[in-house]
Formats: sequence, structure tokens, C-alpha cells
Amino acid sequence: MERAAQPLDRCPPGRDGLNHLVLGYTQTGPAVTDPIRSSTVSTVRRQFTDVVGDTTGWFVVRAPGRANLIGEHIDYNGLAVLPMAIDRSITLMVRPRQDRTVRVHNIDPRFGSRTFELSDAITPAPQGDWGNYVRAAAQAVCRDHPDVPGLDAVIGSDLPAAAGLSSSSALVVASALALLHAGGLPIDRGGLMGRLAAAERYVGLRGGGMDQAICLGARAGTAAHIRFDPLALDTVGIPADWRFVVASSLVPARKSAEARAVYHRRTEECRQAAKEIARLLELPAATGYPALLARFDTDELLAVAGELRDHQLARRFRHVVTEARRVDRAVSALATKSLDTFGDLMTASHASLRDDYQVSCPELDSLVDLARESGAVGARLTGAGLGGCIIVLGTVETVPVMVQRLDRDFYRGRVAITDLDAVRFVAVPADGATITAS
Ligand code: GLA
Repeated sequence: MERAAQPLDRCPPGRDGLNHLVLGYTQTGPAVTDPIRSSTVSTVRRQFTDVVGDTTGWFVVRAPGRANLIGEHIDYNGLAVLPMAIDRSITLMVRPRQDRTVRVHNIDPRFGSRTFELSDAITPAPQGDWGNYVRAAAQAVCRDHPDVPGLDAVIGSDLPAAAGLSSSSALVVASALALLHAGGLPIDRGGLMGRLAAAERYVGLRGGGMDQAICLGARAGTAAHIRFDPLALDTVGIPADWRFVVASSLVPARKSAEARAVYHRRTEECRQAAKEIARLLELPAATGYPALLARFDTDELLAVAGELRDHQLARRFRHVVTEARRVDRAVSALATKSLDTFGDLMTASHASLRDDYQVSCPELDSLVDLARESGAVGARLTGAGLGGCIIVLGTVETVPVMVQRLDRDFYRGRVAITDLDAVRFVAVPADGATITAS
């Protein structure tokens, strides 16, 4: 049964500054030996010796990507979400330096190396440069700890970039943990969640707080029910026979480029819609979504939204409040292992994102349709949308057939057989970021 959430900032800190309330039960999911991950990690280790040379004091930071199960485009409205961390991650092998230089080398030759000096006002590299995620973390850490030392690091990722799986927040989290650990500083995960969400705005995207929170706070075998203002995170066990498949639309969802303009437009539309609804209800203009939903039930709010003259704003509003309700229902469905209910909520979420919020694209829609036609219990886009991935719910029995169908009707002719595992895979609910000392 659900227990009351504890605000992280008021919890007595555990070993890692985080308290987890486990709802239901916890499963660790199937053991997976992922060849993509092992080859990334061994390349990082090999290049670390070549690039860094002296490896004294090395340590490894791993920060996972995430798949949001439900609760899309509502974190920045202060509403709860339900993501899980996945077993694909950013890996950083690190050696602290004596000076204030940060030197990061990416094993992917398309990205190369970046070097900058630590300070509390680090000049950004040109917009879209991957090094800005490292700079964002470094600037935030320096503002709290002015004397933090520099580092040399080699970075590898088995997480597809621009796929809506939050590789960018994973890089921010990994970089911050690397700097803090290099400086022998305490790691307050609860505090870092909000801190790094704010820090990531350095790259120009005014995102919500979901990605950093799940990356730091996830527990294997569970999804996290994350609430905001104040931040609170409850883990909910994922039943052992449920399977989540992540499948890429092969359309890049670049948070640092085109998709960003749409993302910001949607956040502004949400703000405007809440203001209009508050006006109709004769409430203060600044009444936000959590306060509206605390005072009125969803259907009452939808009736008011029906009076809005701007139909587009009404649709954005409808997505937000119905998605919030779907999250509540999904948390209960997960805790009671109600597979079909959970799947239906996912599919309804996709329809809302496609029709009301308008952040889907034809490739995401075809993948969702194919998955459902081939026996998926539910499917939806995950992440900001406009490309990226879908997440599909199935079972141990149904997933193989469903994946075969996606391969035949979506990926054939677009992706080499040898690359299929990189674009569609069973996502195992994983632990949050870890540091392994030498
Ligand atoms: C991006 C943002 C998140 C969230 C999702 C959409 O991933 O970083 O904060 O808003 O989009 O749900």
C-alpha cells in the first residue's frame, strides 16, 4: 500500500543522503549480460590508459539513462512523474588532477576531447556542444565548492544520444559526481537532484527536474514516483514478469536544438493555460497546476477548460491534467500489479501527447501502432518526444513476438541487423548513478 511521501529535503539523510520508501515489493529483473555495455566499458578502460597515462587514484562513475513510464511534460508544471533508470548509461573513468583543469575525452570519435578551466563562471562552448553538459556540472559544483580540483576523464556511453533517454542529464550527473568525488567532497543525492536540474539550464533548456532525480535516486527493479515542490521520491517495485522495451524512432530528439524551441513553447503554453483557468475560477493568476488539482477534480477542471476561447491552450491544459491523473492511476496499477490497466494508461498517454500536446511524430506513432498490433499491453513515446524512443509494456511471453514485428516492419531496411540491439532493447530497471573507487 502507498505510504506518505517524505520530502527529501526533510528526510534524515541515510548513507547517501536519500531515503527510499519502497511500495509493494522489489524485483531486480532478469540478469543481462549486455555486449554493448561491456564493449563500451572495456574501450573506456583501454583509452583511459592511453589518454591519461598515469592512472593513480582512478575511479569510475556510472550514470544511467531513464525511460519515463508515464507522466510526460508535466514535471515542469510541478506534477508527479513515474520514470525508471535503465541499464544503459554514461561511464566516466576519472583521475583527479592537482590543478583546476578539466580534460574529458569521449571514446566516440564523433565527439572528441574537451578541455576547460574550473571556475564559478565557466564560459559555455558554442550551443549544441556536448562539452557544455560537463561545464554545466562543473560550474554548479564550483559555486558550492570553490576549491574543487580538476580531473582527467574518459567518457563512454551505451546510451543512444538524442533518443529521449536522458543521456544529457546522465552526463551532467556523472560529471558532478566525478568532480565531487575527486575533491573528496560529500555526495548529497537529494540536494544534488534539484541543484543539477537548475545547473543543466546552462545549456539553454529550461527542463523540469525528472531526469536528474531519477538518475541519482533510482533503485534496481523499481520505478520512482517523483513529486516536486518539495522533491520526494518513492520507489515502486516492477513485477518480475513485466517487460519494458525501448524502441528508437531513429528520429533524433535534440534537446539542444530544434526540439528545444517546441519544448519552451509548450512550457509557456502551460503557464498561459493555467493563468487563464485561474482567471475563470477567480483565483490568483499565479495559481499553478498542483494548487488547481488540489482544489478541483480533473473533470471539474476540464469543464472549465471547455470555456477557453483558445482551443489550443485548452488542449495543452487537458494533456497536463489528464496526464497527472494517469500518473496517480499508474502508480496504483503498478503497486497492485494490474498489467492491463497500466498498459491502457500508457497508450492513453501517447494519444494525449500526440493529439493534445502535439509532441509526437509519424515514426513514433507507427512504432506505437505496430507494438500494439503485435500484442503489446501498452505503448507510448517516452521523453520530450518529437523523435527519440517509445516505451512498450509487454510480458516475458509477448515481448519476443513484438520485437520480431518491429524488426520486420519498422527496422528492416533502416538498421543493419548487427545494430539492432542498439536501437531496440529490453530496458531493465536499474540503480541510480554509482561511483566505484579504485
Ligand atoms: C525532458 C526534460 C524533462 C521532462 C521531459 C518531458 O526530458 O528534461 O524534465 O520535461 O522532457 O517529460
